[in-house]
Amino acid sequence: MVGINILAASSFTLSEGISLLYLLAAVLFILGLKQLSSPKGARQGNTTAAVGMVIAIAASLAEIHPSGTKILLMAVAVAIGTVIGVVLARKVKMTAMPQMVAAFNGVGGGAAALVSIGEYIRLVSGSNGHSVVFAISVVFSVVVGSLSFAGSLVAFSKLQELMTGVPITYAGQQVANGAILLAILALAIYLIGFGASISVLVILLVIALLLGVAFVLPIGGADMPVVISLLNAFTGLAVAASGFVIGNTVLIVGGTLVGASGTLLTKMMSDAMGRSLSNVLFAAVGKVTASTGEDGTSVRADQGVRSGSADDIGVLLAYSQKVIIVPGYGLAVAQAQHVVRELADQLAQRGVDVSYAIHPVAGRMPGHMNVLLAEADVKYDQLKEMDEINDEFKLADVALIVGANDVVNPAAKNEESSPIYGMPILRAEEAKNIIFLKRSMRPGFAGIDNQLMFDPKTIMLFGDAKESLTKLVAAVKVS
Ligand code: TAP
Repeated sequence: MVGINILAASSFTLSEGISLLYLLAAVLFILGLKQLSSPKGARQGNTTAAVGMVIAIAASLAEIHPSGTKILLMAVAVAIGTVIGVVLARKVKMTAMPQMVAAFNGVGGGAAALVSIGEYIRLVSGSNGHSVVFAISVVFSVVVGSLSFAGSLVAFSKLQELMTGVPITYAGQQVANGAILLAILALAIYLIGFGASISVLVILLVIALLLGVAFVLPIGGADMPVVISLLNAFTGLAVAASGFVIGNTVLIVGGTLVGASGTLLTKMMSDAMGRSLSNVLFAAVGKVTASTGEDGTSVRADQGVRSGSADDIGVLLAYSQKVIIVPGYGLAVAQAQHVVRELADQLAQRGVDVSYAIHPVAGRMPGHMNVLLAEADVKYDQLKEMDEINDEFKLADVALIVGANDVVNPAAKNEESSPIYGMPILRAEEAKNIIFLKRSMRPGFAGIDNQLMFDPKTIMLFGDAKESLTKLVAAVKVS
């Protein structure tokens, strides 16, 4: 008898097994996020979270045990999604990664809204009735999911240059947006408190889509990565709410994790730009491109800058003791990560102390420079975070700024009227010599001039970063 009891206690029911698989998936998601928080563990983090996702999908299928036709339909949907995902992920350029994240994120929000609408239609059409919690979950996931979907599409279009990246503003915009928000609130209260109606839910969906568009239109292209991160957090919350709607634990856990990490990332990005989230969302930064001419060229270009030859700069680098490389967005555009490492290796072989100064918002997405330089096998211990390296600039013979601009712009410290005032910057201006590798005098993403280019210690080497670096490698070799 005792033997039988032990056997019964140790055998799982199907639902217990599914719960355990969900738990395992959740643990893998959390582990994956932890690994993603450092460049060393990031690749492994992706794999860990992906394994968690496969387990979560398998457990969900086991839970709903769909019929033959449904399995076939799901298999086709999974196959289509997998092919699109793999092709896009393989083809996308590193510089286009933010818009790809926006697209994937938008689809996630839209899916959460559709799942909830589907379940709502099923329950309302039947005679079962539904609880207030169910109605709140449906309304929340439809509103937030649709907002995230439409907002992400606008963010995608801005970054892909399908539309202007300049903030689109008009008189009475805040009032119009406020009115849309009030309409959403009124419909939500009706659906939750007064009655079930599929047509009201559809109207709510359309108005939430409108809010998504209206919300992102006035935000400038340079602020898009922050907005994408915020919309990502919204998508996570919409997914979690859809988990409550259909009673799926792993959707609740996964969605909450995305919501929490997206919120933290949004905060960290705003902090790194020295701006509050409300300033990013409502200040329409980037509308006026400071003192930039119509062709995008700085009108202060006639102020006089010193440009140098690769040969001269090569000698300067070769006979330096300490060189700090400041990579920026232009490094990614030029795909110059391999040749910059080659230059750093050449210098290191000559006994020069070389490190890379990584600004938290250099490039166009979090960790952009880390990913790029990791691709070229730059050693992690050469990558120095802003706080770690800033005191070293005054000891450096050369700050070699490769396709970076805003992240070294002293206006962030000196000019209160500057849109980037307050943004913590790399103190490249303290180095004994400053070299800029860029193609022209055009400003960076924030659209403002950089006085550092006119500093007497600065030498400009104009040209594509990859070509300039290749010339510098050759010059260092013969020095
Ligand atoms: P930017 O200030 O955008 O400057 C990049 C510079 O690269 C440009 O001035 C450009 O000058 C140069 N460039 C472009 N293509 C080049 C090429 N092929 N060869 C050589 N140079 C090239 O970049 P940054 O210093 O990395 O700053 C990042 C900006 O993005 C900041 O304003 C930041 O706030 C914003 N932002 C970033 C994030 C994240 S998370 N990374 C999020 C939101 C906003 P030329 O055209 O003259 O060559």
